[in-house]
Amino acid sequence: MTDDYIEFTTGLKRLTGVDLSSYKRGQMERRIRSYVQRKSARTLPEFLRELGSSQEELDGFLDRITINVSELYRNPEQYETLRTKVIPELKRSGGSLKVWSAGCSYGAEAYTLACMLNEELAGGRFEIVGSDIDKRIVARAQRGWFSEADMRSVPAKIREKYFDPFDGGYQAKALLKGHLRFKLEDLLRDRYQTGWDMVLCRNVVIYFTDEARDQVHEGIARSLRPGGYLMVGATERVTDPKAGGLEPVYPFIYRKAA
Ligand SMILES: C[S@@+](CC[C@H](N)C(=O)[O-])C[C@H]1O[C@@H](n2cnc3c(N)ncnc32)[C@H](O)[C@@H]1O
Repeated sequence: MTDDYIEFTTGLKRLTGVDLSSYKRGQMERRIRSYVQRKSARTLPEFLRELGSSQEELDGFLDRITINVSELYRNPEQYETLRTKVIPELKRSGGSLKVWSAGCSYGAEAYTLACMLNEELAGGRFEIVGSDIDKRIVARAQRGWFSEADMRSVPAKIREKYFDPFDGGYQAKALLKGHLRFKLEDLLRDRYQTGWDMVLCRNVVIYFTDEARDQVHEGIARSLRPGGYLMVGATERVTDPKAGGLEPVYPFIYRKAA
């Protein structure tokens, strides 16, 4: 019997390079089928043909099936551990810090890090790179605009210092933007930049198969400089930290052997 879902993922990979077979099937298949139902295409092969003939349709599809939920200071206790334990340690190593928000969505995590590093490093240099597979969301991250709901956990003092009220929400000030760069990147396909002092990869690999998740964690471990840190999401863990030379040091935080 033919499996139209497998044929669809194979065709999409040929078309875009995006490999949906590395995402948990149940969840992804439900999202795709319900998306297709709302479109004029009746079947997955028909929908794949439509995607092949329209870049706009393709971008819209990828934007809808990736889950972009985020907010600034999401899981504040995790940022507090970074602020009180990890950043002081990184600060001691001197030099300009290189931080990667992997699967950054519309940038809430990267802008949070920028606020925090600007506060804690007191003028020290740092660069934050945010990357995501979704083109539209990367463009949104570059704008640096956040809704009231995105900002609900931001301390008032930080909000006033780094954001201007704008268009019913908040616009990040140039002071933050100068430290941030966003790029399109597929964690399942692209080669990772190396030499990171700290990588945050939170709430991204939860949608991947176990094998893909472990591969991403191992790839990130390799991309860290010795002594660098990886923080995963508040419901996640690295299956085999030792395989990547990592050691768990704080809740959800791993350190690469120096
Ligand atoms: C739920 S958001 C997480 C945002 C942020 N890290 C946080 O925890 O608030 C998940 C993000 O992962 C991105 N993503 C999914 N698959 C990806 C892949 N293969 N490569 C890079 N990013 C991916 C999605 O586009 C989405 O923006």
